[in-house]
Amino acid sequence: PERPNSQGFDLAHAPTLEAIDAARDPLRKAQWKAGPLLATDVPEGTVQEVSNPADPSDVVGTVQHATADDVTAAFDAARMWDASPAERGRVLNAAADALEANLAPLFVLLAREAGKTLPDCVAELREAVDFMRYYAAHAPSKEPAGTYVCISPWNFPLAIFTGQISAALAAGNAVLAKPAEQTPLIAHLTVTLMHEAGVPAHVLQLLPGGGEVGAALTSDARVGGVAFTGSTATALKIRNSLAQHAAPGTPLIAETGGLNAMIVDSTALPEQAVTAIIESAFQSAGQRCSALRCLYIQEDIAPAFTAMLTGAMDALAMGMPWDLSTDVGPVIDETARKGIADHIATARAEGRLLHALPTPQTGTYIAPTLISVDGIEDMTREIFGPVLHIATFKSGRMHRIIQDINATGYGLTFGLHTRIDDRVQFVSDRILAGNVYVNRNQIGAIVGSQPFGGIGLSGTGPKAGGPDYLLRFSRPGAAEAVD
Ligand code: NAD
Ligand code: ALA
Repeated sequence: PERPNSQGFDLAHAPTLEAIDAARDPLRKAQWKAGPLLATDVPEGTVQEVSNPADPSDVVGTVQHATADDVTAAFDAARMWDASPAERGRVLNAAADALEANLAPLFVLLAREAGKTLPDCVAELREAVDFMRYYAAHAPSKEPAGTYVCISPWNFPLAIFTGQISAALAAGNAVLAKPAEQTPLIAHLTVTLMHEAGVPAHVLQLLPGGGEVGAALTSDARVGGVAFTGSTATALKIRNSLAQHAAPGTPLIAETGGLNAMIVDSTALPEQAVTAIIESAFQSAGQRCSALRCLYIQEDIAPAFTAMLTGAMDALAMGMPWDLSTDVGPVIDETARKGIADHIATARAEGRLLHALPTPQTGTYIAPTLISVDGIEDMTREIFGPVLHIATFKSGRMHRIIQDINATGYGLTFGLHTRIDDRVQFVSDRILAGNVYVNRNQIGAIVGSQPFGGIGLSGTGPKAGGPDYLLRFSRPGAAEAVD
């Protein structure tokens, strides 16, 4: 109640859209620089170009990666935040204000560096600000864990990056932030704004780079905790590294991937289900950990329902992320594009390709695609793009499908469309997933009201944006300070 979520923008309101466009326009060709932001001086090093996934000829800026020496220097300089919980909360709220005031460069970077569509930019800024204000409102007075390493992915380069570090800061930790190698420019701007808002330089340091920088950070014996979001494979590497190098009780929060399913039975409202599927599978070009990967349709409605679904897919527009008409932007880079394209090519060769849209010739685009499978057991890995797998099921097989979904070992999001109340109860009692959505889409969890996180191969918990998350950033067993 003391912290309303941000309201975002109504993009259907012409003056609002014109104002956003006018603010973004001068930055369409702007250049940014990223590099280590340490509490000590950083020697100059080699820089690499960062380009736009929708248009490789558009160079957005340059990045200097952190070195092994920078990692050591960052740990040497790191200091926990010597301020009261109320003061930390005040500064984090000021940082949230600064993000909102810098909407234009943040939107431009989200579009040009990460390929985000305008509605995704709006949602991402809102989530980042909501995380900051939520953790600011709940800043604990317990003793912090120490120097927290925060490692984030490229698919929410503002929201997840900001969520991790603002939680660690709210709890008073020193933070070493390592953004994904694909999105250093957004991270650099965000940390700069946080420093300007009052987060001390020795409390929050930025170390851009790839897996080698993450590995160096998580193999330093001084690490006090790790907040990681990314693939399950990388989470397991980090756990092994901590087991070898860190103190036994060092906390690891890992939020990882999913093989997310949805079941649509023959009582579902078709228009509602189709809308939910299109959003869940194709929004953000399917590059959400929460995205729908495997759809189960009850056999008797499958032909008519699939025709509606492919019709809705045909209405999706691919284009430049910047344009409001674009529904589906590019995938993040050529490595991602090739991996997804290979998966589609295999399905085509096996005669399982049901529907695909034409793909734009420039940029790393993958067209929304529908592939048939017998069931989720045919899917051996998370395909991180706009590719939906579809299976049919006969009446009486609900229990078996739930067993198959649970048997994947993943448990992030799950969706159910039905008008049978008993079925809602039956399925929700048995499905193993962190976030279960009924008769709606299964993406876009809201900070504070829908804490987000998975179980099993999908994550350790506690859920981000919820009351338990901050507990992992304080020293275990530490008592509340008493005034
Ligand atoms: P990734 O695991 O390749 O990389 C994530 C981060 O880990 C990057 O910053 C990367 O540089 C770093 N990293 C790589 N190797 C490392 C190592 N050995 N030690 C330390 N750090 C290392 O994942 P990605 O491709 O950037 O992101 C996509 C994945 O993230 C998908 O699997 C997606 O489902 C998952 N994801 C999960 C959530 C969630 O909340 N559960 C949210 C977003 C994304
Ligand atoms: N929190 C993001 C979502 O719910 C990943 O889609």
